[in-house]
Amino acid sequence: MSKKLVVANWKMHLNTSQASLLLHRLQERTRIHREVEIVLAPSMLVLQPLSLQIDRRKFRLAAQNAYYKDEGPYTGEVSFTMLQDLVHYCIVGHSARRVYFNETLEEVREKISACVRNNITPILCVGETKQEKRLGEGRQVLHDQLVTALSNLTAREVEEMVIAYEPVWAITTFDGIMAKPYDVQKSMDAIRSEIKELYGKKASERVRVLYGGSVDDKDVGGYLEIEGCDGVLVGAASLNYFQFSSICETVYQLSIK
Ligand code: 13P
Repeated sequence: MSKKLVVANWKMHLNTSQASLLLHRLQERTRIHREVEIVLAPSMLVLQPLSLQIDRRKFRLAAQNAYYKDEGPYTGEVSFTMLQDLVHYCIVGHSARRVYFNETLEEVREKISACVRNNITPILCVGETKQEKRLGEGRQVLHDQLVTALSNLTAREVEEMVIAYEPVWAITTFDGIMAKPYDVQKSMDAIRSEIKELYGKKASERVRVLYGGSVDDKDVGGYLEIEGCDGVLVGAASLNYFQFSSICETVYQLSIK
């Protein structure tokens, strides 16, 4: 059985000292588990200082975004190349980027390619909006997002990446409501069958698929029980060290059951 993955997306919260304090508290409360991989995605600003403080036996770092060109006159941007020595993962195509910054399917594809090219594992976020769900377009949206984002990758590269199913209607940022594990199961199955069709059975079985959207310490267990769910991507609840460490502990307990 593969390791469970828990990713904390701190979004645009916490300055350097706040982030350092949160990491300190998490390090105090988190035990080292071989069965669970815990990844922290702080803002770009604090990646460097946290990389010096982090206990690498307990945590890995992820970026929340990066620019797809490796270098050049792109004022204000940070490239995947620059992040190479700092992070293991990068979140790509998060709904906040698609919704607030109009990130297109093609831009997400370029970022996924750049991420892989620079030896960083992408955590590709996919998911339908409330409107798309209401119109019954969920499956089509997943199809379009996956086909485009992955189109430059080989089956082997897809196997090694992470896909997070994050229905936009379930994310706290967008006043989300809690998704029922039954509905999440259907979408996760849809994701794996898309991958199977595009990249074959092996890739569809090996790619790690996470769930994200209003996950907290009370409902994390329900999502973890979904067949084929490899972990969770946690937003708001990850800013609270008490809640987040209890999420990690629950994931650990379930993984050794
Ligand atoms: P919430 O857990 O705050 O709903 O955020 C989910 C998310 O967007 C994580 O990337």
